[in-house]
Amino acid sequence: MDWGMKNRLSRLIKSDGHCMFLPIDHGYFQGPTRKLEKPGETIKPLVSYADGLFVTRGILRACVDPANSPPIILRMSGGTSVVGKDLANEAITTSIEEAIRLNVAAVGMSIFIGSDYEHESLVNLGDLISACEDYGIPVMAVTAVGKELEKRDARYLGLCCRIAAEFGAKVVKTYWCKDFDRVVNGCPVPIVMAGGPKCDTELEVFEFVHDGMQKGAIGLNLGRNVWQHEHPVAMIKALRSIIHENASVKEAQDIFTEEAKKS
Ligand code: 5RP
Repeated sequence: MDWGMKNRLSRLIKSDGHCMFLPIDHGYFQGPTRKLEKPGETIKPLVSYADGLFVTRGILRACVDPANSPPIILRMSGGTSVVGKDLANEAITTSIEEAIRLNVAAVGMSIFIGSDYEHESLVNLGDLISACEDYGIPVMAVTAVGKELEKRDARYLGLCCRIAAEFGAKVVKTYWCKDFDRVVNGCPVPIVMAGGPKCDTELEVFEFVHDGMQKGAIGLNLGRNVWQHEHPVAMIKALRSIIHENASVKEAQDIFTEEAKKS
């Protein structure tokens, strides 16, 4: 691996091999998602706890302080919306030149395996990776399910992650699921977990994150379960303890409880 590629990855993945990314890219197809109406305000108390921020170029320029920013993973795909025909019909919407201009540590895009646009999204992934390899920019593939949340099982996600790795993604973002070790074991590149829609309790989040880490994920790219929570700082601190300090579910819950009292 070339120096630039290694350097970018090591800005995102810490020396313990783990990472805690904070995605705030949801507005690119959801519009002003709840609690992300003003992304700059939402992330202000959280940025110092994030090892990376997954964001579109518009929100990056408008809402993220260039003098006080964690490493950036730039979202490169889009072109659909929640009120449109099919969320899977994404294209590449940002250029490599823009990624370089914005000094990003990595770029990310969604793939939609099993959808009507499977072929297009995979060809886009291959093209993006080829272009990024020229400049030493890592690509994070996002295994998207669109509105079909029930697709999140080990067989399907294992298929998606493996295909993303075969195409050359340096990191794959997927959902935690039951038998998550099947997903990890079939994927030769690091996996980070997303959270999906907000869970009812923080305990549920700590449990799946802990299980996923035990089964081989390297970290998180988890948004709504942090910034839609009533106590987002307590959430991110507790999650960091699982990711970077090998905390148990109970230890994470205790950290959450203590931190939540302060806010
Ligand atoms: C949205 C994304 C998000 O980055 C990803 O889903 C993680 O966020 P959350 O934990 O809220 O699901 O790719 O398109």
